[in-house]
Parts: sequence; structure tokens; C-alpha cells
Amino acid sequence: MQAVKFKEDIYWVGAIDWSVRNFHGYETSRGSTYNAYLILDDKITLIDTVKHGFEEELLSRISSVVNPADIDYIISSHVEPDHSGGLPFMRQHSPKAEIITSSPQGLKGLTARYGELNYKAVKSGETLNLGRRNLSFVTTPMLHWPDSMVTYCPEEKILFSNDAFGQHLATTERFDDENDLPTVMREAKKYYANILMLFGQQAQKAMQALGGLDIELIATGHGVSWRSHISDILAAYERWSKYEVEDKAVVVFDSMWHSTEIMARTIADAFRQKGIPARYFDLKSNHISDVVTEIFTSRYLAVGSPTLNNQMMPTVASLLCYLKGLAPKNQKAFAFGSYGWGGQSVGLIENELNAMGLTPALPGQKIANLPTAEQLAALTDSVQSLVG
Ligand code: FEO
Repeated sequence: MQAVKFKEDIYWVGAIDWSVRNFHGYETSRGSTYNAYLILDDKITLIDTVKHGFEEELLSRISSVVNPADIDYIISSHVEPDHSGGLPFMRQHSPKAEIITSSPQGLKGLTARYGELNYKAVKSGETLNLGRRNLSFVTTPMLHWPDSMVTYCPEEKILFSNDAFGQHLATTERFDDENDLPTVMREAKKYYANILMLFGQQAQKAMQALGGLDIELIATGHGVSWRSHISDILAAYERWSKYEVEDKAVVVFDSMWHSTEIMARTIADAFRQKGIPARYFDLKSNHISDVVTEIFTSRYLAVGSPTLNNQMMPTVASLLCYLKGLAPKNQKAFAFGSYGWGGQSVGLIENELNAMGLTPALPGQKIANLPTAEQLAALTDSVQSLVG
């Protein structure tokens, strides 16, 4: 397979994973890529490897422009195996390569995972001279692992950003302007929501650290790289890392015999009547990674479940467990649900909303058995009182 030229003597040599549909629980419905970059200078440098299983693709793309044995440095931006999994393989094919990793966390993580592989640990702000170019390392701890770092090349004005600004998106076209921009932005948002939402404060710090850099190209660790819409993705990260919400609602639920579903439809329509667009997610047919992507930029959140064996539905529990881990902020949330007897589900949902810091903005909305027209009118009034 061929390398893709990014700039003179700089190539993309990564792998395209067309088939991956689950990335530790995140539904990657458009596949992904594991991006690696090759810089041909006095010192030949590989930035990142690929997930285990894709090493031959990496090697063939590298071999299309240079003998892998001539590689002097391999920069390991991140210990997570989708980027570092190919290190032992590349170590065999590039025996003289020194592996550059962050100090101390990258060194610790790589050593624990792969044993001794000729590492050189660098601190934030350190630079590496390749000949005509320099690489400057900026650690971005907890964005999203303790070891994470990005690499900036001032001569080329390229930021090798690893996970930041990436998307799980398999495509043969490597740049933002060669792909459908709304799709790229949607996948970038889904990536941020599912991988980085928890780390807004760290993302803000990283944005400040990168703020002074003159960037013409952001070479990402996943999906397409940014060259024509850099200001768009930076502005989006600015908004997302501040947990900014829009006047939108998410109504998410599961239902047994349609009563909670009728409540969900009523709630969505109540928002709509007040001019608030509502996204409606039945958890029987929507994945939680898509639902959280909408929740994190929505001002309103309604979570519904009937009571099943004194509990909420397991689908709803799964969503709330996942959402709690991502720690969304700024939603006006409430619980709703129908019941035959008992009716514990709404209180249990409220407990979870409280635990994630989303104090319910309305009393739980409970309806026994089949909702009546009067009950649905009262539900509409309650929801609309939230909007004001
Ligand atoms: Fe793409 Fe955190 O690995």
C-alpha cells in the first residue's frame, strides 16, 4: 500500500479500519483509521504506529517511500494500544529507532505494556532536531490518558495531535476538505463526547497551551486531518470543552407496553411547541454513544423508564452508567416513566441524575398504567414550565 503525501517529505502511513464497529463500547458506525506519519529528514521519524493487526499495512506504506530499517525515531504520542500496538513490530523492522515517549507517564505505560524497547522519555517543552526540522513536544495529561502528548513541527506548522481533534471515520481521503464536512464534524463531536467529555478542564488547558502556535495543518490520530477548517474544529473544541449547551432537548427512554413511549412523545412535542427542538431516542433502537453525543450539547434532558422488577430498564441503567462516567454539565434534567405498581424507576433515575450532578429540574413525572388525556396535558404543562 502507498503512503499519502501530506507535504514535501511528510507522509501519512497509517491504516484504515473499515470494519470496526465497537471501540470499547463506543459504536463506530463509520469505522476508523489509525494514523501514523513519516517525516523524511536527516533523522527519519515515524509519528505513532497502529493498532495490533494493522502492522503490515503500516509497514507497506512506510516501505513505499523509505526502508523501515532507516527509521531513527518513533514518536509514541499515546500508550493506548490503538496507537502503540504496532511498536513491538516496528521495533523489529526499525532496530535502530529510539522510541520517544512522555516523561514519566508514557515511559511507565509503554514499559508496563511492552517491556524494554529502547525508549527516550521527554518532558513537555523539549525539542528534537531532525535536521531541517524540529519537533516540539507538549504533554496533554488526561487528554485523555496520563501519558498523552502532542507534537508540533514549527518549520512545517503541523500539529500532530493524536486523539485530539480526531474522528472515528474510515475514508480513503485524508483531509477535511476532501470529505463531507458535516459528517466529519458530526464524527468529531461524537469522538469528543464519548472520549473527551469528562476532561473538559484538561482540554481547556491544552487549548491554552496550543493557543500560541501557528498551525496550518492538524494531523490527527484518527480520521481526517484538518487543513481548511482548522478554525472550525478549534472553535468547536472551545465550546465543547466549556460544556456549552444549546436550546435543544433530548428525550431518551425505553418502554415495555408503550405507556412510557407515549409520555416520551408527549414530552418531545411539549418542547417542540415551545420552540425547543427535541431529539427522541428509544434505547431499543439507538446506541448510547449516539445518545450522549446529543445530550452533552443539549440544555434539556428527559430520561424515562417504566418499572421492571422494582428497577429501571437495564437499557436505561446502561445509559445512565455511561453518562455518569462522562460527567455532563449544564443540563436541566428530569425523570419520567409509567408503572403498574411499585413505580420505583423514576426515583432510581433521579438518584443517578443527582449522582452525576444533574439535579432534577422537575419533580419526577410518573403515570400509572395507560396515560389519560388529562395526565398527558398535565405532563405537557410541567415540561413547558421548565422552558418558561
Ligand atoms: Fe486513539 Fe486514546 O487512543
